[in-house]
Amino acid sequence: MKEKLQSLKSEALAAVAAATDEKLLDEVRVKYLGKKGELTAILKQMGSLSPEERPIMGQLVNQAKAELEEAISVAQNGFKTKAAEAKLKAETLDITMPSTPAKKGGLHPLNIVLNDMIDIFQSMGFDVVDGPEVETDYYNFEALNVPQDHPARDMQDTFYLAENLLLRTQTSAAQIRTMETRKPPIKIICPGRVYRADEVDATHSPVFHQIEGLVVDKNITMCDLKGVLEQFAHEIYGKETEVKFRPSFFPFTEPSVEVDVTCSECRGKGCRVCKGSGWIEILGAGMVHPRVLKACGIDPEEYSGFAFGIGLDRLTTTRYKVSDIRLLFENDLRFLKQF
Ligand code: PHE
Repeated sequence: MKEKLQSLKSEALAAVAAATDEKLLDEVRVKYLGKKGELTAILKQMGSLSPEERPIMGQLVNQAKAELEEAISVAQNGFKTKAAEAKLKAETLDITMPSTPAKKGGLHPLNIVLNDMIDIFQSMGFDVVDGPEVETDYYNFEALNVPQDHPARDMQDTFYLAENLLLRTQTSAAQIRTMETRKPPIKIICPGRVYRADEVDATHSPVFHQIEGLVVDKNITMCDLKGVLEQFAHEIYGKETEVKFRPSFFPFTEPSVEVDVTCSECRGKGCRVCKGSGWIEILGAGMVHPRVLKACGIDPEEYSGFAFGIGLDRLTTTRYKVSDIRLLFENDLRFLKQF
């Protein structure tokens, strides 16, 4: 019986070593250790032994059983580790592999210049406000001292949507909206799109951009207007840029001016960009007309103010030497990628 146990044990251990996967291993376990297994069968034969032999044999069988169980458990763990390793290997990410580069968007040149302008005016204490692109006749014209049938309406070809509804022709409409809702001191800029039914060419587009500025307070004079606009021109174009104020006319400002700066292309000598004059017109401005203040419930005897309207598109095309304004609106990636 002892010999049989010995040979059964080595046979079983050999079978464990030979098992190549968990399923075969389990078959080995059942074959030797199961209810009807061969080692179990030996235990059942213990009854035929003498009382002296029984404990000795029992101990040997239990020892063999423990040894076999241990071998099976070691083999099982081996299979588990191997499986886990294989799984890990299959799921590994190669983080050194080059990725497909994500295409980064960029700012539109108009926005680059606009952001610069906002920085400049914010540093001078201006708030940025917004206004609607669809306006009523009242805000775009009437309250700006341009009554119905006034010849000044012909200065701007207007897109009408309905009898009293239009696409704003100027950001000046924001002046009225601001003065209706804020009390002086007022110091705002309002950047935005404006629309005019102009003939389209290299320098004209039916959609373009303005930045309106408005300052209203006690004792505001033309000197304040000059100071702010000169400061702005120097920050945008550089200290050596000269600024020229020309008398002009706008119905909502009195007196009115147009402002030119030295042509950044030829530095004033005269070239194609400035059409030989050496100057580039960048904005219209003036002292807010007393009638406009009155229409917004501000007493012109107590308060005064100045306003300006800067053309953003012209500033952008001259800064980046863009020869045709239409390029700013066509969204051609070959153009936009250059900024
Ligand atoms: N709104 C005027 C224009 O579009 C510009 C302007 C604004 C002039 C504010 C004076 C004051 O031509």
